[in-house]
Amino acid sequence: MKLTLHVWRQKNSNQAGRMVQYEHTKVSPHMSFLEMLDVLNEDLIAKGEEPVAFDHDCREGICGMCGFMINGVAHGPQSATTVCQLHMRHFKDGDVLYLEPWRARAFPVVKDLVVDRSAFDRIIAKGGFISVSTGSAPDGNVVPVPKKNADLAMDAAACIGCGACVAACPNASAALFTGAKMSHLGLLPQGQPERFQRALNMVAQVKQELFGSCTNIGECEAVCPKEIKLEVIARMNRDYLRASWTERGDSVSQEK
Ligand code: SF4
Ligand code: FES
Repeated sequence: MKLTLHVWRQKNSNQAGRMVQYEHTKVSPHMSFLEMLDVLNEDLIAKGEEPVAFDHDCREGICGMCGFMINGVAHGPQSATTVCQLHMRHFKDGDVLYLEPWRARAFPVVKDLVVDRSAFDRIIAKGGFISVSTGSAPDGNVVPVPKKNADLAMDAAACIGCGACVAACPNASAALFTGAKMSHLGLLPQGQPERFQRALNMVAQVKQELFGSCTNIGECEAVCPKEIKLEVIARMNRDYLRASWTERGDSVSQEK
């Protein structure tokens, strides 16, 4: 297979970037997308040129490191698939592909297709954990969890923090990511003691970073490789509202 690649090349965050065209003639349908870039990079290195920088680690769709735009779509054309799990058999000989980094003010470009997602780390540091002592591992079923809540918590915990939701959102909102991180703790008994303080702290951090607001467009859900649902945003908003009312002294009930 032959491909024409237009790749965003940018030396660092202080210099302007530009699209550079490459004719890639060594593409096998069996390659993953990142393997296709590995081969491009081997050729660039052999010619004495700078290889294309892109983030990756597990290449199994579980770490959240990879991700860039392919023809304007975060993680490319295959739904529920990270770019490391996307294979070249989904493209045609002669295709023209435009590769760009995530575009969001909160994710400045580090180099080429690599962006700085440390804003996500700072949101997690404000509440994406449980600090109460949970003791040693309990016997199974000692803490009863309704099946529905266990399933919903597990679904939310699938978020790998890739940032595609931010890149796809016209507002560059981090609502899907933050909602997922709050939901997977807030749905379980162990997450209850800090549930509402967690909502206040994490949302405050989101506001400090350069993310936009959610206006229910839904592009985030459409591109999420882990199929995180918009309902995590509703859950986040409910927890945040209840926490804000409680902070103001309004009387609110404590039911879910
Ligand atoms: S919600 Fe989905 S798109 Fe957003 S960071 Fe998590 S896995 Fe990635
Ligand atoms: S490299 Fe880990 S999810 Fe893609």
